[in-house]
Amino acid sequence: MLNKLYSHVEKALPPKRYQHTLGVIKVAVSLAKQYGINEHRAEIAALLHDVSKCMSLEELRSYIDCDETLKYYGNMGELLHGFAGSVYAKQELGIYDEDILSAIKYHTIGRRGMTTLEKIIYISDAIEPNRNYPNVNFIREKAKTCINDAILFEVDRKLKYLLKIDATIHPNTVDMRNCILGELKNKGSKSYE
Ligand SMILES: [Fe+2]
Ligand SMILES: [Fe+2]
Repeated sequence: MLNKLYSHVEKALPPKRYQHTLGVIKVAVSLAKQYGINEHRAEIAALLHDVSKCMSLEELRSYIDCDETLKYYGNMGELLHGFAGSVYAKQELGIYDEDILSAIKYHTIGRRGMTTLEKIIYISDAIEPNRNYPNVNFIREKAKTCINDAILFEVDRKLKYLLKIDATIHPNTVDMRNCILGELKNKGSKSYE
């Protein structure tokens, strides 16, 4: 089954995007090992996280059943490919694991109360080896020791950028940021005491 999924994704994506996906798999499997969750599920979620990345806006919208999302964010392919990808993975590829589907769905915008698998896919997407932006190595190092720290740093960077370019910000991203901050404070993380 896994081989079939790999060839399906390879056909669905241009080579550069497929290389990105392979990079996300590499990081996600390594983080899964580190944080003690099932590596096979991390591999599938990472493999499929961008399966809808190259769909047209029309096709993306055809897979989305959430009126609220379409109403406010219906023109944002960047946001919609996660939502469409999770429906596609279930309907077309027979993936029924809700944690995997949710990790695909929220990999760009996050959500409040993410599971460890969701956090791993979210941060792996941002730090896979092909990514190159200021401080990416710092976030890579943080991810090895505290995934919440890594996500907080990454999402703060992302929010600053989105504000700078006057982009629409999905409320989930703000929710994720506040939730992660709360988790860090509750844990008494040194940086947030
Ligand atoms: Fe993506
Ligand atoms: Fe991605």
